[in-house]
Amino acid sequence: MTVTAGHRLTPPAEQTGPEGNERLTAATGAVLLALFAAEGVTILFLNRLLTWHYAIGFLLVGPVLLKLGSTCYRFARYYTGSPAYRRKGPPVPLLRILGPVVVLTSVAVLGTGIALAFTGHNFGGVPVLFLHKASFVCWAAVMTVHVLAYIWRLPRLIGADLRRQRPGEPGDAAVRWSLLALSLGAGVIIALAATPLVSRWTH
Ligand code: HEM
Repeated sequence: MTVTAGHRLTPPAEQTGPEGNERLTAATGAVLLALFAAEGVTILFLNRLLTWHYAIGFLLVGPVLLKLGSTCYRFARYYTGSPAYRRKGPPVPLLRILGPVVVLTSVAVLGTGIALAFTGHNFGGVPVLFLHKASFVCWAAVMTVHVLAYIWRLPRLIGADLRRQRPGEPGDAAVRWSLLALSLGAGVIIALAATPLVSRWTH
């Protein structure tokens, strides 16, 4: 503990790090959930909403990278023996096993989607459209479990970063909101640059 000028006890970042990391992961998860819902609507009306399917798909790249970053950071701190991350421990066994599958299927859906935008149904004999659909089905199954396991934590974790920080809390909420805004900004730039590729499919 360190004593600040206002005589408040402020735990060092080493102690509050895992809580701050979890808050960032949760806020990014909430943004992803909203974007998944919007992308889900475009899938229902793909003929009419293909441009939006592209735009939201490319926009997702930013927040998904941030989610991978925050969870990989926790993973790295845990396995490099950070005392605070060790104390927090790993996710429960089912979610610990599912974690890499969530990552792989997410990368597969986004990766094949991006490949489709640049190539076509088939690229050098690789059935890209089929792989996009197949990886989506696997992703939807594991993501349903992932979201159901974690959604109940979101109000507490996001609420904690929305209200005034209390002594003893990770005090860098502004950094976390900035990272989220940056990831969305990056997603918007990618979407603006890449969505015109949709003309290959609509013509
Ligand atoms: C492409 C989308 C996503 C990817 C790649 C992803 C990946 C991960 C990974 C690898 C973990 C760590 C392993 C685990 O604890 O199970 C994790 C944890 C977590 N995820 Fe996701 N996730 C995604 C979407 C979401 C969504 C939509 C939510 C919203 C409910 C969410 C909320 C959380 C929470 C609250 C944690 C726990 C963080 C902690 O305990 O420190 N995630 N995610």
